[in-house]
Amino acid sequence: MLETTTPGSGSTRGAALLPRTDGQVEFLPHAELTWHDGRFTEIRPLATSRLPDAPLLLPGFVDLHCHWPQSHVRGQFGGQLLPWLREAIWPAEAEFLEVSVAQLHAQRFLADLTRAGTCAGLFFGSPFAESTPVFLTETPRGFFEGPAIMTRNAPEALLRPASTTLAMLRALPESHQQRVVISPRFAPSVDASGLRACGEVARETQWPVQSHLSENADEIAWVATLFPEARDYTDVYDRAGLLGPRTVMAHGLHLSDQELARLADSHTTIAHCPTSNEALASGRMPLDRLRRAGVPWVLATDVGAGPILSQLHVMQRFLAVHSGHAEATPTEALTRATAFPGAWLAQFDSALGGLGTLAVGAPAHLVAVPMPELPRPTPATLLGALLAHTPEAFETMPRAVILWGQVAHAAHAVKNSRQR
Ligand code: GUN
Ligand code: ZN
Repeated sequence: MLETTTPGSGSTRGAALLPRTDGQVEFLPHAELTWHDGRFTEIRPLATSRLPDAPLLLPGFVDLHCHWPQSHVRGQFGGQLLPWLREAIWPAEAEFLEVSVAQLHAQRFLADLTRAGTCAGLFFGSPFAESTPVFLTETPRGFFEGPAIMTRNAPEALLRPASTTLAMLRALPESHQQRVVISPRFAPSVDASGLRACGEVARETQWPVQSHLSENADEIAWVATLFPEARDYTDVYDRAGLLGPRTVMAHGLHLSDQELARLADSHTTIAHCPTSNEALASGRMPLDRLRRAGVPWVLATDVGAGPILSQLHVMQRFLAVHSGHAEATPTEALTRATAFPGAWLAQFDSALGGLGTLAVGAPAHLVAVPMPELPRPTPATLLGALLAHTPEAFETMPRAVILWGQVAHAAHAVKNSRQR
């Protein structure tokens, strides 16, 4: 387990990219970053022409949609969403009722995720609330988790009334309740009264909410038959009180203008997961329509449909899938994988203010990657060079990762827990 109760102090030098929530990225060719007790205390440009072998420094990534009980099978199965869930994912998640299994996987997941440079996020758990305290004990502040609530349409062993799972979450110690997410898996897995129960607890507790929305054509058709009273898929969640500024919905690929307007009005955030969408052949997220409608969005891995834990891989595929369809820039990709999701998460914990940025007062989360050799580097050309790698290279690209001011990963101690 990472020791985060005594956050560390230190400093480092390098070139630095500073993403911000206004969508801009500042570049400091030579900088010194200093932190104390787990927070940045100084970001200082240096008047030097050269720092030999200096790395490129980025803030720790923030991932608002990732399934930790799927990490050990990430990228292993093909097919479309519904057969993939039934044949590969639900059998894998069924193992997590056993607390010792969950603990082993939580430890490996945290090691693999931080090695890839992600320092905070919103995580889907197994269907069992028993594995939530296991994950929250193994992970540091900034990691939020909720069991994937399932009440129907899956093998009996995975199903529980929503009220049972919600009661188990409300019985957790206060310190864990501060990092709980209400997580109805998706509308086909939860009956209308279960969704309403989730909405009621969300209103009472002000906990974050996460689910999946409009990912796949067969899924959408199924939702229409299961909820004939609803106007559309988005309305299913709206009726249950599950939309709003504290909600992240993954995907949002096949939404009508009416649905986009409702998401924008309610300030619901879409987690855009291009690597997952490619792996499950789900389609392309209509980025231009989302932007025009004013729907907030971030980039996320959706591991295990997404095959790689690195947000650098997501950024690369984001640029590739929208090329020729919608404007997508490397600097925007970086801000949507760091500063924007960081600001979203910080609404639940004031200690996370500045998360996903390199700024004085922000959590001292830092990723050091090899500095690309470029004659006149800019944020766009640096990111372009950084993203020109094979998918597998991204998970081991960080030379060092600092989490709450302490070394969470150094390149010589690399281990890979992926099952082969
Ligand atoms: N929809 C419901 N459950 C899941 C899941 O585990 N992964 C993805 N990508 N979509 C889902
Ligand atoms: Zn997902």
